[in-house]
Amino acid sequence: MLALIEAGYDVEIVDSFVNAKHSVIPRLCELAGRDLRVHEVDLTDRAATEGIFADAAARAAAAGRRLGFDAVVHFAGLKAVGESVAKPLAYYDNNLGSTFSLVEAMARHGIRHLVFSSSATVYGDSYPAPFTEDLPTRATNPYGWTKVMIEQVLRDVAAADPTWRVGLLRYFNPIGAHPSGRIGEDPQGIPNNLIPYLAQVAVGRRAELSVYGDDYPTPDGTCLRDYIHVLDLAAGHVAALDYLWDATEPVGTWNLGTGHGTSVLDMVAAFSRAVGSPVPYRIVDRRPGDIAVSYADPSRARAELGWVASRSVDDMCADTWRWQSANPQGFPDA
Ligand code: UD1
Repeated sequence: MLALIEAGYDVEIVDSFVNAKHSVIPRLCELAGRDLRVHEVDLTDRAATEGIFADAAARAAAAGRRLGFDAVVHFAGLKAVGESVAKPLAYYDNNLGSTFSLVEAMARHGIRHLVFSSSATVYGDSYPAPFTEDLPTRATNPYGWTKVMIEQVLRDVAAADPTWRVGLLRYFNPIGAHPSGRIGEDPQGIPNNLIPYLAQVAVGRRAELSVYGDDYPTPDGTCLRDYIHVLDLAAGHVAALDYLWDATEPVGTWNLGTGHGTSVLDMVAAFSRAVGSPVPYRIVDRRPGDIAVSYADPSRARAELGWVASRSVDDMCADTWRWQSANPQGFPDA
């Protein structure tokens, strides 16, 4: 959102706040240097979603503009892999239902530019890295299937009405935080993902990291992932949105990754460098469902969007640590 504002876009936020605290908003306003319009709406609520678009259309008409919004960047969705295995219907209902409601409201109001947060999880476990966008998609868990399905829904919508311009962004492993240390990742409960867990160990909230397996066919036996700084990821959204204004094809699909794999043990070492002391860890059994190696071929995004990830793993760890050490318990509750 900050990247869009810096690029000159006027942005409104829609969030259900099921996985976010309200106290993030004043910090966003502080960093943006202005007030932000925030709609507390669950997109699965069709009437409330329509209300956002109707309200924006009325304001636009009063100001002599044709559209309430020019484009939507769709990040909404549940994203915990393990939870999706335990509660598949909740994931299909929420992630697909919110997309249907959003796309219907957009179509009713003549808004046909959409950037969607997809995931490298759509490559499943069948191919050797690096992953290119033309590989067939499949998932290994319900969360991943919602991404595969939403991509297909959006392709079908754009095939039925080729005036749509849709960008499907396949994120690899986003980590890091805003360099101000004011906003960052604040998972509820026990973190599922590597970097938030490492950060909570480093700040003293958890005893040690469990490294899931050191017997993979990789140089140090731990899994390789393509970690990407959230600021590079944000820049990728701005590049995709800018591209869509003049795009000749209805749908573009782009990997957002660095093209490099980093092992779990290399991430522990990088995070320890950022902290200035070793972060304790222990090797345990593999986690079911993990693949050995995942990294992007990012050449299409470079060629078509002129986008390339520039921040290093050390930048990612330093920014995460600045956020976590200044906010040991995450965002305040109030
Ligand atoms: C998963 C999802 C991905 C999603 C991402 C962020 C799949 C297959 N993967 O990625 O789609 O975008 O989460 O929500 O659907 N690790 C440890 N100890 C830990 C945690 C992780 O050793 O406590 C290891 C894992 O085994 C893995 C690496 O760290 O090798 C990264 O794990 P994680 O951060 O959970 O991301 P992914 O599983 O790659």
